[in-house]
Amino acid sequence: MNDSPVASPDRHEYECDHEHEHEIAHPVFATLYDLLPESTLMGPHREYLTAGLSGRILEIGCGNGELFSFVAAGGDDLEYHAIEPDPHMRRRAVRNAREEAVAVDLRDARAESLPYPDDAFDVVISSLVFCTVQEVETALSEVARVLKPGGEFRFLEHVRADGWRGAGQDALTPLWERVAAGCQLNRNTIDRFVGHEAFEAVDVERLEFSLFPVTPIVRGRLQRRRTERVGLSAFGAPFDP
Ligand SMILES: C[S@@+](CC[C@H](N)C(=O)[O-])C[C@H]1O[C@@H](n2cnc3c(N)ncnc32)[C@H](O)[C@@H]1O
Repeated sequence: MNDSPVASPDRHEYECDHEHEHEIAHPVFATLYDLLPESTLMGPHREYLTAGLSGRILEIGCGNGELFSFVAAGGDDLEYHAIEPDPHMRRRAVRNAREEAVAVDLRDARAESLPYPDDAFDVVISSLVFCTVQEVETALSEVARVLKPGGEFRFLEHVRADGWRGAGQDALTPLWERVAAGCQLNRNTIDRFVGHEAFEAVDVERLEFSLFPVTPIVRGRLQRRRTERVGLSAFGAPFDP
């Protein structure tokens, strides 16, 4: 890990245009999220997401920073960056990073407009984030843009179920999104990941572990194609944080 200082929760390195976006600030959800039985349920999957990391890593929607200690343990000589748009989550993430002594450059940003230049990262990680982002396609293109050719997108996401469970999720989502900070139960996120022209699927695994209505959960790795040049280039300068 590098030894750069942990960022403050209010740090703004780049100006992002939030004018047409809804506010992301969910204090109750952030408090409840801290109380989830994290280690038993999520531990093995967080290890999967962070195994053998090297180089420059970006975590999108890091929440309260549960992944931080796993990233620190998952590889040597890392440069770790994270974004989190919700100030209540971000404050917890900063605290978590300090307590765990993890060096992470944490910024206030959204997956739809990542404040980094093209080809900046070796690995991008997303854990339970694409159920909530406003613009899935834009966020996915941003992930592709900031990944180096051959770089990996590692994810753990819940998706719409088949059959009656899926119909139940369709009915429940309008209420669920109100209590779960905008989470959509019924997105076909993985189909969109695997179908994206910038990526090649390396590993996609449907997990047994899940809790209705947040089911099924899928984890995997995609590789950014070496030949594909992805659009949405907002920052042309070489990355020198
Ligand atoms: C269910 S939490 C998951 C937190 C963490 N990744 C984890 O695995 O515990 C979803 C997170 O995504 C964040 N989020 C919501 N919209 C986002 C967006 N457009 N871009 C990036 N993160 C977003 C939320 O603020 C929240 O912290």
